[in-house]
Amino acid sequence: MKSKNAFSIKIRIYDILIFVFLVWIFVISAFSYQTPSFVRIERPPDIAEEADEPPAVFPHLFHQEMFYCYVCHPTTFRYGRSVMTHNDFDRGKFCGACHNGKISMSIDDMDCEVCHH
Ligand code: HEC
Ligand code: HEC
Ligand code: HEC
Repeated sequence: MKSKNAFSIKIRIYDILIFVFLVWIFVISAFSYQTPSFVRIERPPDIAEEADEPPAVFPHLFHQEMFYCYVCHPTTFRYGRSVMTHNDFDRGKFCGACHNGKISMSIDDMDCEVCHH
């Protein structure tokens, strides 16, 4: 009887430890996979004064469902904010790495409002 009690106490502590561990894993992974659905790309103030179009909105979740993270991060886009212009796209950088008429539709064939809204 005595040994049975000792055994059941051991199980309970073990269960709590397992439970705490699983909750901890869940919380850590839930936070580390939090990504934005949309990102409004940052625009430098000097360009912002001249441009008529509002800064572009990038549909992150839409792209994330098509490509692995490492297709874009940290090579084409670092984690965090980058400054980019259409000159960069024309040279195949940032969005221009794919929106070039080969991997995906060319930026020149897309309506401005698709990104600038
Ligand atoms: C595939 C998405 C996309 C399309 C389509 C697009 N842009 Fe952009 N554009 C961007 C991104 C991204 C930036 C960088 C962030 C910002 O400044 O808005 C940008 C920047 C700009 C800028 C400021 C920087 C620069 O390059 O001068 C202007 C002005 C601009 N776009 C105008 C246009 C016009 C006009 C059209 C339509 C003919 C257009 N864009 C179509 C994504 C796009
Ligand atoms: C098609 C390219 C692409 C893919 C695939 C992609 N991202 Fe991104 N990600 C971007 C762009 C573009 C930005 C915005 C960069 C900027 O604002 O300069 C961004 C921004 C981010 C940010 C910063 C958000 C913020 O608010 O500043 C995080 C974190 C991130 N991505 C994580 C991920 C993770 C995790 C995955 C995979 C599940 C992923 N990305 C897949 C292109 C991509
Ligand atoms: C890794 C390649 C890749 C990169 C980098 C990339 N895109 Fe895309 N993008 C795609 C593909 C593929 C599609 C889907 C094309 C289709 O529907 O045929 C797409 C579609 C889109 C669409 C249309 C979404 C819709 O609802 O139809 C927008 C807007 C867009 N991209 C903006 C951007 C902007 C802005 C950037 C840069 C910040 C960017 N993309 C970078 C591959 C990419």
